[in-house]
Amino acid sequence: MLYLTIFILLFTFVCLYCFYDCVKPKNYPPGPAWLPLIGCFLIFVRLRSKYEYTYLALQQLAHTYGPVLGLKFGNQKIVVISTYDLVKKNLLRDELNGRPDGFFFRARAMGKRKGILFTDGTTWSQSRRFTMRHLRTFGMGQSAMKMQITIEIQEFINHLQKISEHDVVPMHRVFDVAVLNSLWLMIAGHRFDYEDEKLQQVLKVVHDIFRSMNTMGGLLSQMPFLRFIIPELSGYNELIRIHKVFWSFIGDEIKIHENNPPENEPRDLIDAFLLEISNKNGDKDNVFDRENLLILCLDLFLAGSKTTIDTLGSIFLFLSLHPEWLGVIQAELDSVVGRSRAPTEEDLPLLPITEAFLAEIQRYFILAPLGVPHCASEDVILNEYRIPKGTLVLFNLYSVENDEAYWDEPNLFRPRRFLDERGQFRRNNFSLPFGLGKRRCLGEQLARSALFLFFTNIVHYFDMKISTDHDKPDLKCYDGFTLSPKPYYLKLTKRSE
Ligand code: HEM
Repeated sequence: MLYLTIFILLFTFVCLYCFYDCVKPKNYPPGPAWLPLIGCFLIFVRLRSKYEYTYLALQQLAHTYGPVLGLKFGNQKIVVISTYDLVKKNLLRDELNGRPDGFFFRARAMGKRKGILFTDGTTWSQSRRFTMRHLRTFGMGQSAMKMQITIEIQEFINHLQKISEHDVVPMHRVFDVAVLNSLWLMIAGHRFDYEDEKLQQVLKVVHDIFRSMNTMGGLLSQMPFLRFIIPELSGYNELIRIHKVFWSFIGDEIKIHENNPPENEPRDLIDAFLLEISNKNGDKDNVFDRENLLILCLDLFLAGSKTTIDTLGSIFLFLSLHPEWLGVIQAELDSVVGRSRAPTEEDLPLLPITEAFLAEIQRYFILAPLGVPHCASEDVILNEYRIPKGTLVLFNLYSVENDEAYWDEPNLFRPRRFLDERGQFRRNNFSLPFGLGKRRCLGEQLARSALFLFFTNIVHYFDMKISTDHDKPDLKCYDGFTLSPKPYYLKLTKRSE
């Protein structure tokens, strides 16, 4: 009798739990029906496998249910906001500018909320203010940064020349170290050799992690208990292994600074942070500690390298399949820069086609189609819907760059859309590759300079052809946190002076 009562109670409890787990909050945005425990995850998985990309699966659901789409994966409520008007308006709302918390987002910070990418409140505001101030002090947006990138590019062009004398160039990986160097000089005060094996290993891990992750944090964020049941299959073991590589790499950089403090002024961002730690004087609201420094450097490393590397990868991928554009850009550079010197940022105002081409590449290949996930920091009313506090919010940047209300035939590659009637470059505010509002990318200036200088210098010095010894380059990129080009190889030949 006792067992029967326990069974009935348990059964009733499970039924009630399942029932309530499927009930949507009042006025929650429209979306597919929810099943107990998994929400509408299965529908997403089916669409993801049909359309091959997370953003296309979500775009498909938005077509069915509308531009404010309400989902639930496991225990995580997710709202996806699409179209330029809605994305722009809501990116500017403070209450939608939090970042999600959860197992996956904390895994990179040893289970804590540290760094800049996935933090809120004081930790985020102090870290962001500190980073922006010191990146500027150590060069960002200043002539010092442009000079550093120019020197890096000279080294890189020599490096490309050496490889191309006897081999084809692996364009999907060749930018790794050079791009990181432009950032690392400001963070740690030194650059790496292109052959540095330890760094090559770490950068390989960066490529792997971006591919294995999705913007919503993946299965482990929505069903964290899986790490106890299937640690290998759920990706938990891999996640920890990858993060240990990062912690050790960046930890070594910090140790070098600690063992060799500056004689006078800080030399780089790590020095400046260590100085803040030593000046802390027991202030409880002060977020400067060693763990925060480690995770801040990790965040900058991840956010700053992979994005620029993959944008450059996409540019040359596109050029290899559309060589007519290579000719157009080279002709503009030849007429403005000439053949006797390298392009510099001072040339930019006289290179409207090149600038329009770069802007269109960033629109057409929107590298982070779902941006970085946001979170509702309180209950939010959006149109007639209510988004509960704690909901993960995705801003669909792909829908922005393809919004037919603002772009004519957005599926076509057409740099002309960034030119005015007189053929001058026209910045178009409907394109948001770096986001908007207080979470807007803080490396935009560095990224823009690096993209322009790497791109123009390479096409100025080299002609390029697809390697006949490898598969033809594929415009379909790998899915992941960012879209990254699949391996492709080009034969580079030096242009005549
Ligand atoms: C082509 C290159 C890049 C692209 C397309 C890009 C794009 C983005 C986007 C879409 C966001 C999210 C904005 C949001 O949450 O609403 C972001 C955030 C961020 N980016 Fe970039 N980014 C690039 C390069 C860089 C570089 C070079 C750095 C390094 C200094 C950087 C550092 C960051 C950081 C730290 C954040 C988080 C900001 C915060 O949460 O407050 N990014 N980026």
